[in-house]
Amino acid sequence: MNEYDDCWLRYDRVADDDRRAAYRRRCSHAYVAEKSPECSAVRDELRRALPDLLGRDPHLWQHPPETVAGFLAVGTPDDMAMIAETVDVDEVESLADGGYLLRSVTWNGADCLVVTAPTDRGLVYGTFHLLRLLSTRDPIDDLDVREEPAHEHRLLNQWDTPFHRSVERGYGGESIFDWERLPDLRERYEDYARLLASVGVNGVVLNNVNTTKPPRGSANDAFDAFEGWQLLESGRLEDLTGLAATFRRYGIRTYLSVNFAAPMLVGDLDTADPLDEDVREWWREKADEVYDLLPDFGGFLVKADSEGQPGPYDYDRDHVDGANAIAQALEPHGGRVWWRAFVYGTHEDRAVQAYETFEPLDGEFADNVTVQVKNGPIDFQPREPVSTLFGAMPETDLGLELQITQEYTGQGVHATYNLPMWKEIFEFDTHADGPDTPVSELFRGSGEGVVGVGNVGEDYNWTGHYLAQANLYAFGRAAWDPDVDAHAVTEEWVRQTFGADETVVDTITGILHDSWEACIDYETGGLGLMHMMHNGEEYLENHYYPSPEEWPGYHGVTEDGVGVDRTETGSGYAEQYRDPVAERYASVEDCPEELLLFFHHLPWDHELEDGTTVVQRLYDNCFAGVEEVRRLRARWRDLEGRIDERRFRHVSERFDEQVAQAERWRDVLTEYFYEHSGIPDERGRVPAE
Ligand code: GCU
Repeated sequence: MNEYDDCWLRYDRVADDDRRAAYRRRCSHAYVAEKSPECSAVRDELRRALPDLLGRDPHLWQHPPETVAGFLAVGTPDDMAMIAETVDVDEVESLADGGYLLRSVTWNGADCLVVTAPTDRGLVYGTFHLLRLLSTRDPIDDLDVREEPAHEHRLLNQWDTPFHRSVERGYGGESIFDWERLPDLRERYEDYARLLASVGVNGVVLNNVNTTKPPRGSANDAFDAFEGWQLLESGRLEDLTGLAATFRRYGIRTYLSVNFAAPMLVGDLDTADPLDEDVREWWREKADEVYDLLPDFGGFLVKADSEGQPGPYDYDRDHVDGANAIAQALEPHGGRVWWRAFVYGTHEDRAVQAYETFEPLDGEFADNVTVQVKNGPIDFQPREPVSTLFGAMPETDLGLELQITQEYTGQGVHATYNLPMWKEIFEFDTHADGPDTPVSELFRGSGEGVVGVGNVGEDYNWTGHYLAQANLYAFGRAAWDPDVDAHAVTEEWVRQTFGADETVVDTITGILHDSWEACIDYETGGLGLMHMMHNGEEYLENHYYPSPEEWPGYHGVTEDGVGVDRTETGSGYAEQYRDPVAERYASVEDCPEELLLFFHHLPWDHELEDGTTVVQRLYDNCFAGVEEVRRLRARWRDLEGRIDERRFRHVSERFDEQVAQAERWRDVLTEYFYEHSGIPDERGRVPAE
């Protein structure tokens, strides 16, 4: 038995004889360029995948085989004359870094398949694309694929805390990185790189954004989130070289989260003032040292002046001063600072703060700074409106930060699939550049991109819940192409992960697509309320159980109403959007129902469009959410015997727990709504006491 699950890289044998024969014809022989680490990764992957898929070991060639019926060729047009002869070289050269072509061609009388790209990284992606087609049993005799990533940067943010191996907000076990044993390498690192590269991720930030333990009493208290800054110490940096090389083979650059006060913590300066010349020199020397060891290093991620982390405010400087001081050190090496916009604490409504802080700084950040913005103004809630910063800083490189791990949506226990939420975000029209400026059109400039907070850990199945593997998969696919068809991506994940049985494919795809709305209903009541979670100390206490009375500021429950006024009569957050979005949100009549109480404080008996009162809709949605989860569980149970026992039972057990927790959420929330509104449930389901 494997030491851990293969996720979607299972490469199960192709059962259909004709299909297998067609695949064998073009893929039993492979001619692969030799020159780079990426090419050797391609060869390794073919050696892993093809014997399993085709039931036959591939023959790998150093030159184009002359006497075979067909073969696979992987290389750049520069590497191989055979490729330059069969594809349009100009077309290949015009592709962005990471882009590739897959073409079925005839060469010298043989039926060939060409995987080509202008860069070696593109060859890795192209090879994984081809293996995906074989895994989903697509025909390959007439292939004509041209792919380019929409976003230059597609980054994974590990919230892994070195030396404790914990993962903050990760629910798949402790960190896969055995920091203390580095530079020793584990097979798992390579498999992780394979998983990431197979969906187009091209950068990984190895450690937690919290590089020092925040002050006691903060939300992060339960986690030993200190000493992350020590990774910048010389000895620790040296230990990273092998790990970075593992990722490099798959086209993935390594990044580090750094502490703003590193010149004092790692160095021996008595200030981290970004305008102090010694501080700037310290960063330059540190960057030189990093690049000596890790020549393709991506850059530094910084969480500054946020949740107790140090920052430029400590020296009466602003975020531009802070980010640019570090950026100037990375600039000669082509490195980049990813500077997080997650700042709050001085405003009563934290939603308004990121925009107020960063929008006025537009145009002042150095060219190699990307401001990394969470998808919504609060914090990865089950549903949030999109951040007002999107499209508001045209002169600044921005990154969209999504959370792959399910911090607020049932963690590693509930089946909650993120892709429908991400699609909603990508499709949202910001009107930043007139109508029809969806989020998916932003972040496309050089220096921009999409970032995901990772969900893997040491668990056998990597992500705590087998179905949460789909979130990692979908993140990569959506970061590569935000316009991708969501159902198609989900289906392709299911086919690779659970096989070709159509009942299985339809059922699991359906379960995943219905899961997010169900979670919204039982965890929030579905009208835009949020953050009603308990903030405990232990695993599964933090942001998992319901506890609406803990955070009244987020949902605005009072005796006379519910929701938070974020219009001009309240915090004014709605006005940060451009018209007509601002007008729509500011109007009770026009605001979309699913966000109504995010923007408005309304009487409990306020009537919605269909005549139902607000409180009744909240009751109804909480009950509907539970019913939906019961249906999802029943659909899953119908798969018994169609998928392997191990995964079937594991997910079944998680569904039992999810149903129980959804009921708990429903009961706590509906009782809370009743207690404050005094209005009974018309259907008599909420105990009136
Ligand atoms: C949330 C989360 C923290 C995390 C923080 C961040 O507050 O609960 O664990 O550190 O976001 O994004 O920095």
